Amino acid sequence: MSAEIISGTDMRTAILEELASEVEAMKAKHGKVPGLVTILVGENPASVSYVTLKVKTALKLGFHEIQDSQPESISEEELLALIERYNQDPDIHGILVQLPLPKHINEEKVIYAINPDKDVDGFHPVNLGRMVIGGDNGGFLPCTPAGIQEMIVRSGTETSGAEVVVVGRSNIVGKPISVMMGQKGRGANSTVTMVHTRTHDIAEHCKRADILIVAAGVPGLVKPDWIKPGATVIDVGVNRVGTSTTGKAILSGDVDFAEACKVAGKITPVPGGVGPMTIAMLMKNTVKSAWMHLE
Ligand code: GUN
Repeated sequence: MSAEIISGTDMRTAILEELASEVEAMKAKHGKVPGLVTILVGENPASVSYVTLKVKTALKLGFHEIQDSQPESISEEELLALIERYNQDPDIHGILVQLPLPKHINEEKVIYAINPDKDVDGFHPVNLGRMVIGGDNGGFLPCTPAGIQEMIVRSGTETSGAEVVVVGRSNIVGKPISVMMGQKGRGANSTVTMVHTRTHDIAEHCKRADILIVAAGVPGLVKPDWIKPGATVIDVGVNRVGTSTTGKAILSGDVDFAEACKVAGKITPVPGGVGPMTIAMLMKNTVKSAWMHLE
């Protein structure tokens, strides 16, 4: 058996086409487009490349996009004041502060400073609270879990009544996706187990999963004999395992991909899986925010 590959790159293309039509409709109805500011502090190479991709995608969709790059030396007070300016700017519907921030800046304070109704990353506690309450309550889902759920739905994987095992309990992926898959509604209604470093036998749990979501940050952690034959496997790991001769990072997921393909029914690759979906969901949240501000 060879698993069907779930391409995040292809799904991103389809979602961006849907969003481009929405931007056109918004322009026709309100004479406005979604506005997104991406704030980058310092020059961390990974952050620069993520932000560049986000900006490029926003511009391609016809957003009003501001790339606001600030020096590493910016003070916490200055950054908080900058965020407040964008909170008050009626042409900005989404505010993204790229993480991580330099050590002298308290990330929690920065996240809390963003107006929850412009928090298109879905990191603000108000939005996390809205996510836990569930239903369409005007909140923003965090982008990576939202992308994972969208991939599961678009791949045609049945989630209702499915056993979902999530490996990892981070605030950005493990915790939110565990809640989301257990909610009522589209792409959910699953029975969820979240496992982590203190779980007694991770492999035994994984073997029960109809849908296995791995966000541990450990390259090759999941072995083929941890996978139930025919399961859908979502690999969220992005691990730099080396550098190519041209200087590019060589990436590997948390799943032993080549071997897992022989057992799984469907599987996401790394790169080209969950990563592209995260950006698509950021754009989707920004369009949603713009509609909410304009109507
Ligand atoms: N750093 C790594 N991933 C992300 C993300 O999704 N959003 C932000 N703001 N920073 C990040």
